Amino acid sequence: MLDGNKTLAEASASERKKFRNIDFAQSEAARMVELITKSEDQVTTEDRERVAKETIENFANHINKGFLEYRKSVTEAGDFALTEWKGQGSMLTDVLGREFIDVLGGFGIYSAGIRHPKIVAAVKAQLDRSPQYSQEMLDPLRAHLAKVLGNLTPGDLQYMFFNNSGTEAVEGAMKLAKFYTGRTGFIATTGAFHGKSLGALSLMGKSVFRKPLMPLLSNTRHVPFGDADALEQQLAIAEQVGDDIAAFVAEPIQGEAGAVVPPDDYWPRVREICDRYDILLIADEVQTGLGRTGKLFGVDNWDVVPDIMALGKALGGGVMPMAAFVASPKIWKVMEPNPFMHTSTTGGNPLACSAALAYIDVMLREDLPGQAAEKGDYIMDKLAELQTKYPQILDGYRGKGLLIGMEFATDETGYRVASGLFKRKVLTAGTLTNAKAIRIEPALNISYELLDEVLNRLEDTFKSIA
Ligand SMILES: Cc1ncc(COP(=O)(O)O)c(C=O)c1O
Repeated sequence: MLDGNKTLAEASASERKKFRNIDFAQSEAARMVELITKSEDQVTTEDRERVAKETIENFANHINKGFLEYRKSVTEAGDFALTEWKGQGSMLTDVLGREFIDVLGGFGIYSAGIRHPKIVAAVKAQLDRSPQYSQEMLDPLRAHLAKVLGNLTPGDLQYMFFNNSGTEAVEGAMKLAKFYTGRTGFIATTGAFHGKSLGALSLMGKSVFRKPLMPLLSNTRHVPFGDADALEQQLAIAEQVGDDIAAFVAEPIQGEAGAVVPPDDYWPRVREICDRYDILLIADEVQTGLGRTGKLFGVDNWDVVPDIMALGKALGGGVMPMAAFVASPKIWKVMEPNPFMHTSTTGGNPLACSAALAYIDVMLREDLPGQAAEKGDYIMDKLAELQTKYPQILDGYRGKGLLIGMEFATDETGYRVASGLFKRKVLTAGTLTNAKAIRIEPALNISYELLDEVLNRLEDTFKSIA
């Protein structure tokens, strides 16, 4: 820590040196590698308590103290330091051995559950062959995955680029729309979440993340999600005043906003309007894609084919970071003259591709979209019951498949539900400032037995609040 109120620039060379201890860095790196190399039964209670304690210190000193405050708010008491350690299926275990049922699903990464054996096996096998690309030879797994995914995506979406995160996929989709149309403008939706890098952030539908970073991409505007008339009006105005719009970007169902499902005629109308105004339609399927909403893709709920699709999260099978943006041959052609216009050293690496291939196999074999649809209906029926019993607590619920949002009258109530569930060892997300809508987003293959357990604990939480 720096003394007094000095900034880093004002600190003396010796003070700055306090941040540097190379021998210590090496021994600490080795210590953690040694610990994770041990089998679980070799990890002692002392090891575990040390990890729990040091994780808090390390977050405070090297990541961000704010996260500790946030965690304290979810866990309420604050003495319940939750240090993630291992997981399997829909169960997470902290370093001290406490087990939680996971209905957060890493906000959508765990569609196949945690450590699905087939996905883990595929990645381990590829790890023993070649973990990264030379960057020069042609890589077979990336090409194969593109063929596989191109056969799954709707319509003629067939060409793709692989990224490491959903945000990067959205950035790529935006660049492609600009290349193809030669225009600069984007229309996004209020409440939208597309990532937090500067381009994706321009599309964000929440001022808290956007405002401090203005100006973002110029010629970006927002319309209410679910309101096709508003989109049409915005396009008519843009045309009238000469603002060139490249694309409309939206999530099929808004995830971060709390599983907001648009009216049934929304997506078909959006498709028609985009065609009429000759702009591209970008579907951000980072959260809704690959089974989550009860269909292969969110847009499949309304049989709509977008021009560009962004994918992420579940694509990595919950094992590797993996994302993609996908488009039709007609649009992709613009990338052919110079394929280096968009590149990434690690995007689509062999480990990520092996995870994605295994995920797709598992998703189709286990019919994860079908499971999501059925289990989503099952949860919704129970939520209807709970709303009748506890109308003062559960204000509403919505969603499709296993992307479900519970709506509470106040942040305070939602927060009490999130922390009540946490005390009952069910992992969801919700903070004091953002708990009005709590998402239920479990693994698509979660068992009915565990779902019943979650629903019982949810009712018990409501009961104790009431
Ligand atoms: C719809 C949507 N798009 C993009 C992103 C950003 O993805 P990532 O966090 O992998 O960068 C998210 C993440 O929650 C998302 O839900």
